[in-house]
Amino acid sequence: MTASSVTSRVLTGITTTGTPHLGNYVGAIRPAIQASQDPSVQSYYFLADFHALIKCQDPQRVRESRLEIAATWLALGLDTDNAIFYRQSDIPEIPELTWMLSCVCAKGLMNRAHAYKASVAENERAGNQDPDKGVTMGLFGYPVLMAADILMFNANKVPVGRDQVQHIEMARDIAGRFNHLFKSQYFTLPEAVVDEQTQVLSGLDGRKMSKSYDNTIPLFVSEKKLLKLVRKIKTNSLEPGEPKDADSCTLFQIYSAFVDAEQRADMRREYENGIGWGAAKDRLFEVLNTHLREPRERYNALMEDPGYIEQVLQSGAQRARDEAGPTMEKLRQAVGLGRFSDL
Ligand code: TRP
Repeated sequence: MTASSVTSRVLTGITTTGTPHLGNYVGAIRPAIQASQDPSVQSYYFLADFHALIKCQDPQRVRESRLEIAATWLALGLDTDNAIFYRQSDIPEIPELTWMLSCVCAKGLMNRAHAYKASVAENERAGNQDPDKGVTMGLFGYPVLMAADILMFNANKVPVGRDQVQHIEMARDIAGRFNHLFKSQYFTLPEAVVDEQTQVLSGLDGRKMSKSYDNTIPLFVSEKKLLKLVRKIKTNSLEPGEPKDADSCTLFQIYSAFVDAEQRADMRREYENGIGWGAAKDRLFEVLNTHLREPRERYNALMEDPGYIEQVLQSGAQRARDEAGPTMEKLRQAVGLGRFSDL
């Protein structure tokens, strides 16, 4: 792949605080891995472990989550020759750029960030004297770190969930301000890509599958555990033989994310014909298990070999730094921090 045939630079980060679940897979991981196979795209995927520190002060959890997420992406077939796959904390240029951007970013812009505003609103609701109670500088400056992630590699497309769109707009804002102040197009203005097609999976209780609702099905649990979790998915109390509505059913929704149109139509007919919940759950388990069996084996093998994962991430970091190093050199010059010998 020559640089000139690459038409777009796609970048996204994964905050390393949780264990990947079916919802992450269908909504983010699967589309990202597919996209990374397009030779006209240079993709950057990274473990946002500096971001993890904002929400999580449990080192064991951060460590485990980083390993689990890396092993998951590799087990599912991320092509690390094509995509650049790295850990944010292995790129010291990122915090350096974060500082430079912080120095041109208006505090008022950060005041408007949804996550920060939600914390303030919560304090006000709870009658706390200090509206900033519990707000760290990490939380407050979160969007600047995210801007550095993106702008460092001049990414033009950033696939994210809806909740992150504001952060991409802030990155544009900060990039524009930097370019203006230092009178050159140092940064590409990134665009959020929100795929309306991507599915939001429901969890065990029918609400959106999410770590914060504690209703997830982790991707790589054992077969036995997977079956147990599938059996826990909430259904209504209709008996076998009674027609059932597929569209409002969590089981059907999850099933649909793993089969083709024909199988989906078959299952829909089964619902109309009154398939029992036990049988429907068995069918879902079969489909999930077939889909996940091989990646699960690869995942378990990878988890046994953290040294190998480390090596993959180190070589990703090297590729990322090969770009970040010269970029920072230019930016240092731009702001007046270049070497005297280069004058
Ligand atoms: N904040 C993002 C999230 O929670 C993760 C993230 C960090 C990210 N840096 C990024 C996403 C840069 C896109 C680009 O989902």
